[in-house]
Amino acid sequence: MENLISLVNKLQRACTALGDHGEESALPTLWDSLPAIAVVGGQSSGKSSVLESVVGKDFLPRGSGIVTRRPLVLQLNRIDGPGEYAEFMHFKKKRFTDFALVRKEIADETDRATGRTKQISTVPIYLSIYSPNVVNLTLIDLPGLTKVAVEGQPDSIVYDIENMVRSFIEKPNCIILAISPVNQDLATSDAIKISREVRPKRYYTAMNLMKIEECERTFGVLTKIDLMDKGTDAVDILEGRSYRLQYPWIGVVNRSQQDINKNVDMIAAWIREREYFASIPEYKHLAHRMGSEHLAKMLSKHLESMIKSRIPGIQSLITKATAELETELCRLGKPIAADAGGKLYTIMEICRMFDSIYKEHLDGVRSGGEKI
Ligand code: GDP
Ligand code: NA
Ligand code: MG
Repeated sequence: MENLISLVNKLQRACTALGDHGEESALPTLWDSLPAIAVVGGQSSGKSSVLESVVGKDFLPRGSGIVTRRPLVLQLNRIDGPGEYAEFMHFKKKRFTDFALVRKEIADETDRATGRTKQISTVPIYLSIYSPNVVNLTLIDLPGLTKVAVEGQPDSIVYDIENMVRSFIEKPNCIILAISPVNQDLATSDAIKISREVRPKRYYTAMNLMKIEECERTFGVLTKIDLMDKGTDAVDILEGRSYRLQYPWIGVVNRSQQDINKNVDMIAAWIREREYFASIPEYKHLAHRMGSEHLAKMLSKHLESMIKSRIPGIQSLITKATAELETELCRLGKPIAADAGGKLYTIMEICRMFDSIYKEHLDGVRSGGEKI
């Protein structure tokens, strides 16, 4: 069976390719309903570092100020290898094997939409990475939350970014990956503040009616643990006592600025991170569920099980979209413009694949096999 995450990736791309299909059509609704993980955090919280560590590659634009100005839908696909490469949806003909060029293309494509004005755009860039070193996973990188505009940027950018982040994480099937640096008070962490606002969950425990507050469908990533003062540790946060989230907190140790300047490679950084958690007495008992590699594996599993649980809903939207597209194809009649016709056929093809996977799952459940 084709893996569910890559199938959803195809659906996502196909919906986008047909994006100008009209507001009321089932396609945008389908896109919005697809399970996704959005990366949310303040400027310099370590968002780029976490993403690069999950991918095991340096590929994101760097710089001061607001670097990420468009959503980046990052689709990771595990392949047998040995080679690894990247592809952009807007640039299908080119296979990138040099990740420095991937970085440049993200920056250039950002500027193409925003006209070098340092404004932001809500139109996503789609990047697929194929590598034997990644897990199957899709992450949406969003601009970093900020309090002040930098020179050359309009003051409204602060609110524009917040609104963009909110528009993604308000979707019920979007999981939040809240990036917070440990050297900042959690109460003032941009990621926690917005998750709390968009995803509040309050309930009372049955026994003592104690009020519990937590963020729904949110994972926490605690960065910069290596920068904590001597004699302090993050155990209370990592064990969920400082601030509760529905899903766990994962601590990471990314490369410092000095490491980046010295070109410390990702494999070395992974090993060092693993050793860090295993060697510090306070973290030893948590070491098996800390670090970037654990984060990637856990998110992949979570995304897959979420897709499985949403198959019936996705399925009915697909059926609706397919019917609409078929009507559209009839209306266009022949000869259909090769481009439009091709795209419509692509999504119908994917819809059918989803349909057959859905049926396989149902059969599995009926025969007592794999449960949805
Ligand atoms: P972003 O603005 O949220 O994308 O943050 P970056 O990933 O660019 O990180 C900002 C700065 O913090 C960079 O200089 C990173 O090297 C540094 N940094 C990020 N995470 C860690 C960490 O876990 N430990 C240390 N020592 N530095 C980190
Ligand atoms: Na923050
Ligand atoms: Mg960044």
